[in-house]
Amino acid sequence: MDVTIRVKRFDPEVADPQSYWQEFTVSIEDNGTVLDALIKIREDNDGAFSLRCSCRSSICGSCAVRINGHAGLACKTQAATAIKDGVITVEPMGNMPVIKDLVVNFDSFWDKIMEVEPYLKPEGPEPEAEYIASNESMLHLSDVTSCIMCGSCVSDCTVLEVDPSFLGPAALAKAYRFTADPRDGNEKGVSKDRLEELTKPSGMWDCTRCMECVQACPKGVAPMDRIMALRDQAMEAGFTNTNGARHTEAFSDSVGHSGWLDELRLVPKSVGMTNVTALLGYAPIAIQALTHGKMPPIIHKKLPDAKNVKKIFDKVEKPMERD
Ligand code: FES
Repeated sequence: MDVTIRVKRFDPEVADPQSYWQEFTVSIEDNGTVLDALIKIREDNDGAFSLRCSCRSSICGSCAVRINGHAGLACKTQAATAIKDGVITVEPMGNMPVIKDLVVNFDSFWDKIMEVEPYLKPEGPEPEAEYIASNESMLHLSDVTSCIMCGSCVSDCTVLEVDPSFLGPAALAKAYRFTADPRDGNEKGVSKDRLEELTKPSGMWDCTRCMECVQACPKGVAPMDRIMALRDQAMEAGFTNTNGARHTEAFSDSVGHSGWLDELRLVPKSVGMTNVTALLGYAPIAIQALTHGKMPPIIHKKLPDAKNVKKIFDKVEKPMERD
């Protein structure tokens, strides 16, 4: 099978380095992968074409690139299924600086992983034998421990695009791997120190739930779901004095009570009713909304069928009873 690949090239060693697109047509097996095609380019067309790969089996995570605009593993993507309008577009992952061609610099990725202290920190004295954890608790972690650190989630994270200080989906999912481990914890099995740290700005509350990381992850880790679980853990542990926690409570109180969102009160309840400085910061937006006829109603009326929304809330909040 002949496939045409359009790759983004970048050579830092030329004068005035600029990225550019280049097309190659290579011959691979009918069931070949995008990685097979990329390797073929390097072997047959340009020995200087740079890419990373090792296992070719979705294990090492090194071949992650953007294919047709979305991050994923080149060795897991069949070339035949990736052809769009006769061509496969491949470029380096996003949110990390490009070193050469498809190779990106992972320094910030690893720095953030190290920031969440990715190792068990058990409380109390060391046990004489091994730490015992139930099968159930380990099975619960099996998805998140499948992470192969390929960086796909970080590449496509829309928050990192505008705020590089955000810890990001990989590091936060890694943090959950430890906060949800029964062997970790500094206060009766709860990782309070970790959770407190993760509730700070650039942490768990900065995720905007765009789902890109869930779609990009080639191993089913679903980082965004882990971030939501971290938020639950933090609120249960009493870390409710944050904009994020207040926002969640205000949102759920409003929809659960009236059947829809009270947008007028959402902001003051999120930043804190007495936080005058923060509230004044929102004044220009409020004035804009007012002058453009977008001001939410002052009196927030209950929807006629609000009780049906309440029923959904009750079911979500009491899943065990429902089952
Ligand atoms: Fe190892 Fe693709 S080469 S995951």
